[in-house]
Amino acid sequence: MTGAPDPWDIGEYERLAAIATAAVTRFVDESQRGAVPVGSPPPLPELIERLRLRELIRDERLDGDGFEPWLEDVLAHSVRLHHPDQIAHQVSTPDIPSAIADLVQGAINQPMSIYEMGPAAHAMERVVVEWMAEKVGWPDGAGGVLTHGGSLATLTVLLAARAAAAPDAWVDGVDGTLAVLAPPSSHYSVKRSVAMLGMGERAVVDLEVDGEERIVPGALADALARCEAEGRRPMALVAAACATSTGLHDDLEAIGGFCREHGIWFHVDAAHGASALLSPEHRRFLRGIELGDSVIWDAHKMMRTPALAAAVLLRDERRLEAAFRQKAAYLIYEDTDEESPSLLERQVECTKAAMGARIFMNLAFRGEDDIGRYVADRYDKTARFYELIAARPGFECLSRPESNILCFRYGRDDAVQVRLRERLLAEKRFHLSSTEVNGERWLRMTVTAPATSEDTVERLLDAIEELADAAAPPG
Ligand SMILES: Cc1ncc(COP(=O)(O)O)c(C=O)c1O
Repeated sequence: MTGAPDPWDIGEYERLAAIATAAVTRFVDESQRGAVPVGSPPPLPELIERLRLRELIRDERLDGDGFEPWLEDVLAHSVRLHHPDQIAHQVSTPDIPSAIADLVQGAINQPMSIYEMGPAAHAMERVVVEWMAEKVGWPDGAGGVLTHGGSLATLTVLLAARAAAAPDAWVDGVDGTLAVLAPPSSHYSVKRSVAMLGMGERAVVDLEVDGEERIVPGALADALARCEAEGRRPMALVAAACATSTGLHDDLEAIGGFCREHGIWFHVDAAHGASALLSPEHRRFLRGIELGDSVIWDAHKMMRTPALAAAVLLRDERRLEAAFRQKAAYLIYEDTDEESPSLLERQVECTKAAMGARIFMNLAFRGEDDIGRYVADRYDKTARFYELIAARPGFECLSRPESNILCFRYGRDDAVQVRLRERLLAEKRFHLSSTEVNGERWLRMTVTAPATSEDTVERLLDAIEELADAAAPPG
């Protein structure tokens, strides 16, 4: 199986696919049963050496015989997202239909920005985006596009907001009079996008937040006055549903009302939380989302798709098309729009993965109610974990959770939280994250794997107590 046959050797594909499918199946099975530790990686140089990565792309070759043990080793050094003790990041535990969508796309490769380059994949994106805009609760005229991640979605939205506030900016650039109002706790992609749009980070005017880093609606007028005093006009205001660090939601109704009153573009960063629109019990956290001029929604966080599948959604989709003023004659066929519809005029990417297929497959196999139940179960479990943690002496939680993200700590020493996390990963094989909220360090869990249970959290708390006792000075 060495050498590269120009056309596909169908037998090779079947053999390699069978090896890969069997290995991945074992990996997921042992992971979700918790039959192996969640693991922590060796230092990067060690891993590069162990997997013979440099050799394999130079002098050595993988073949059918070597592939299986090598793939097992790759999997052994991969994050086990299906594992109950994997409670670190906002990355989905993919469901089977979207995993299969990627298997299929990997072989057929349908970069589908233009209809004729991937008709079925293009059609799926159109229909999925239409469905997402409907879920936000907007009337006809809403729409959007899928893009490679929430960060790029944020950039795209702010570009559209800039085009609305300063239509000539595309040609003339910006003049230092625009601002974006956002809390300091907003995802870093907000500031990064503003800087990338040539406005300078200083164009972000901080909104006041409370002790849980939520926007204080009563202080919005002050922020607007500050903005105007600096000689700037707000091009957008950003609120979170929910915030990356805390998993808590801003008051979208109050903030959206303020934006309406003052004619400010209201952007809801619902990258993480929008999937709760599918849960009748939890969509209350998103009350007011429909007041947004724009929303971003990462299906690769809570809709169980592999990365990436992010949506840029606008109440008036024409404002998205106004964001990009460029013409590329060889790709954008204005006059053949009907025959070969294109997404190029509403997105940064030219070539784009078939992200709609990932979302579509989960929806088509499971239905939105089932995905909503998945979200509801994660949110409800996290609420039970809050009770367990809050009941243990020495532990405290930042606040009652409103999602599957929960911040907690053992004692109040920042350095202790950092050390505990490092040692939990290295010795106790729990994978959790940590964050800073209002300048204080917290441990942070994100509950995505269906296998994570109360038993996981009891074992985690026991492990933390053990580590802390062992570190305590004798006497
Ligand atoms: C609230 C929020 N917005 C945006 C992003 C960026 O999304 P992505 O990682 O897909 O670029 C994240 C990611 O964690 C997020 O939590």
